[in-house]
Amino acid sequence: MTTTSGRTDWSTFDPFAPGQRDDPYPAFAALRDEAPCAHLDRYGVWLVSRYDDVTAVLRDWETFSSAQGAGLEPVGTPEEGGVILSTDPPEHTRVRRAVARDFTPKAIAALEPRVRELVRDALGPALAEGGVDWVAQVAQPVPTTVMAELMGYPDRHREEYCRWAATIFDSMGCPAGGESATLGEATGGLFGLVARIAADGEYAPDGWADRIVQAGGRGELGQSEVVSLLGGILVAAMDTTVNMLGNLAHALATHPEQWARLVERPELVPAAVEESLRFEAPVQPGFFRVTTTDTTVAGVAVPAGARVMVAFGSANRDPRRFADPDLFLVDREPNDHVSFGRGVHFCLGAPVARLIGRVVLGELVTSASGIGLAGSPARKANRMLRGFDRLPLTVRAR
Ligand code: HEM
Repeated sequence: MTTTSGRTDWSTFDPFAPGQRDDPYPAFAALRDEAPCAHLDRYGVWLVSRYDDVTAVLRDWETFSSAQGAGLEPVGTPEEGGVILSTDPPEHTRVRRAVARDFTPKAIAALEPRVRELVRDALGPALAEGGVDWVAQVAQPVPTTVMAELMGYPDRHREEYCRWAATIFDSMGCPAGGESATLGEATGGLFGLVARIAADGEYAPDGWADRIVQAGGRGELGQSEVVSLLGGILVAAMDTTVNMLGNLAHALATHPEQWARLVERPELVPAAVEESLRFEAPVQPGFFRVTTTDTTVAGVAVPAGARVMVAFGSANRDPRRFADPDLFLVDREPNDHVSFGRGVHFCLGAPVARLIGRVVLGELVTSASGIGLAGSPARKANRMLRGFDRLPLTVRAR
């Protein structure tokens, strides 16, 4: 972006630029004040940055449609963009209903003992050694194992589908002809794999994969919807949760006074998980919608057919909604962040992610007397995710 005579020209702003990704918040603060609905000429899209506008866009699916996908470029078919994420009601309602039964509070609560076992297995060696690469040893293995077990998938495909899932997020922020794979190429790779797993019957009976395949067999879902759902749920679940856990540990390691508060009051663990989701939204800079009619956002006229990005991380730091938004406060209350979205597409897996966050942090707080950085973290280079590839920590056992 350029500045002339004290005024910033936001039309040249690039939310995907590596420097911006390192620390997105100063630019978001300026955007909220100066250009809350800014047209970004380079991408031909609008960026919405204030909390009230982001939530209004997300709630109004009739004006702000998901049918052309949630990424920067239009998807060829809803299946390509993930058949839940890239549809509007009534199709969306039908598809979401077919899987929602696996996400009831009772079904999620039943996962807790196994999640706790996995977390203890991951934390044990870290505590014994006094240090950990948090991403490699905890943040990555715990959620990906939980998801593999929920789906009923064998271990041998995990590395491949994790790779495709990360590429899919990256491609959602990549312009056509850019350096990343296109969304079509990336989903093609993942969907090919999950279709092969389904065709070979390589999934456990009564896991999520089995139930989705069975819904296809009963005619509740078409065959391409089955494959898109199998892949889409995997993508949505893994890297988002991995990054949530990385951001959570980083925030605590760099805010020792907040760690001390948590040790003193472990009942704040759920609130601390929410605060880390607000403080560093794992999905950044944001997902997209397409306007179905001429409309107005933040007083700015936006024409029909425009692509609009909702900046989750910016909304979460809006001082119009949150007091002292740049402070990380484990006892923040209320905390209605938008990291899981809002409206009909509100994250289906939020209870799973929250369970994992609470168990990881609960175990950490009761078994470690302190955590701190043990070297320089490496930020993830992904155009749609915020988190870490490497996060070396000291972890002192009690
Ligand atoms: C901290 C972790 C997570 C974050 C930050 C996150 C974030 C989001 C966001 C922002 C959306 C809304 C998309 C939109 O409005 O276009 C969403 C939707 C979705 N998420 Fe998550 N997610 C997380 C974990 C999970 C998990 C663990 C699962 C599955 C077990 C999951 C499954 C889904 C699905 C299926 C949707 C699509 C829902 C729909 O379109 O109706 N997510 N997620």
